[in-house]
Amino acid sequence: MKKSITVSAPGKLMLLGEHAVVYGRPCIVTAVNQRMKATVELTDEPVFELNAPDVQVLDYKKPMSELGQGDIPKGAKFVEIAVKNFFSTPEVKKMRLHLGGVAVATASEFSSKFGFGSSSASTVCVVKALFELFKDDLAYKQGLRVDLKKSIFEIALKTVLDIQGKGSGFDVAVAVYGGTLYFVTGGKVIELLHIDSLPLIVGYSGIKADTVTLINQVLEKDQDVVGDIYTNIGKLVEQAKPALLSKDWSSLGKLMNEDQKLLENLGVSIKKLDDMILAAQNAGAYGAKLSGAGGGDCMIALAPDDKTQAVKDGITAAGGQVIEIETNAEGVKAE
Ligand code: PMV
Repeated sequence: MKKSITVSAPGKLMLLGEHAVVYGRPCIVTAVNQRMKATVELTDEPVFELNAPDVQVLDYKKPMSELGQGDIPKGAKFVEIAVKNFFSTPEVKKMRLHLGGVAVATASEFSSKFGFGSSSASTVCVVKALFELFKDDLAYKQGLRVDLKKSIFEIALKTVLDIQGKGSGFDVAVAVYGGTLYFVTGGKVIELLHIDSLPLIVGYSGIKADTVTLINQVLEKDQDVVGDIYTNIGKLVEQAKPALLSKDWSSLGKLMNEDQKLLENLGVSIKKLDDMILAAQNAGAYGAKLSGAGGGDCMIALAPDDKTQAVKDGITAAGGQVIEIETNAEGVKAE
């Protein structure tokens, strides 16, 4: 049996549909070419070990029998619960595949501050790695032809929900499948949109946002009003899908601007993001909006080639940091 493997999964950017996608509506998300990497090793001692220097977790250790118990450092939660959930999955549990330990080391190409989905990407990496390490045993002993990606998605989504309590799973799906996805809550629909890379510019606001805080903030508002906003966001996403597939950037940009207005009505945008978005729009972008939960993190702008530099300059002048990315990156894979 192979004892160690390194896998990587992409970060993500939400194109349209955030917040509404938590409540049954669709969204569109793209994978970015900055990746999270995890090396997972099966060890003899029944001890879980984690090194995740990007999130200040060094030489973290605990018995495998205590996974998920006690105080878990923030930076260790997703990986630890992912390992626990993998071994608690019925098909894996039945096999009692491994009585030793698991040592994980993660390293990210992007800052966990950007909101590119480092937690979900590391969760996906760990589950994929464990499936790869045990794949032969699982398939051979059970005669299974598992849909590996679906199994990874399900265990990783359960992990994120166990920790956060809330979320649509869009970030997990794109870390698994890659590309650009049309996605409905919980993975009811996961459709790969066959498109080329998008002319997308990303600006980081310098402010770290917390997804669950933002979701809860919206829950304090009048839910009739919020429901109408979600319905309208859902409609924009439905219109954005054909615009994206036919590379109608001008229409897609307008839909992004409309989505931004709805997100402002939802109360999740902030002045810094508004300034960066306005600067991008004024500099000739087809459209611009926040990406993700809001409250900080990143904004995105779709811009014609001849306006790219002006849009980047506008974002910088508004106090943002331009992050160079390519969209449509590959999903989780062994390195
Ligand atoms: O904060 P992010 O980048 O993880 O995006 C959150 C998007 C939400 O729709 C608010 C939550 C979700 O899980 O879909």
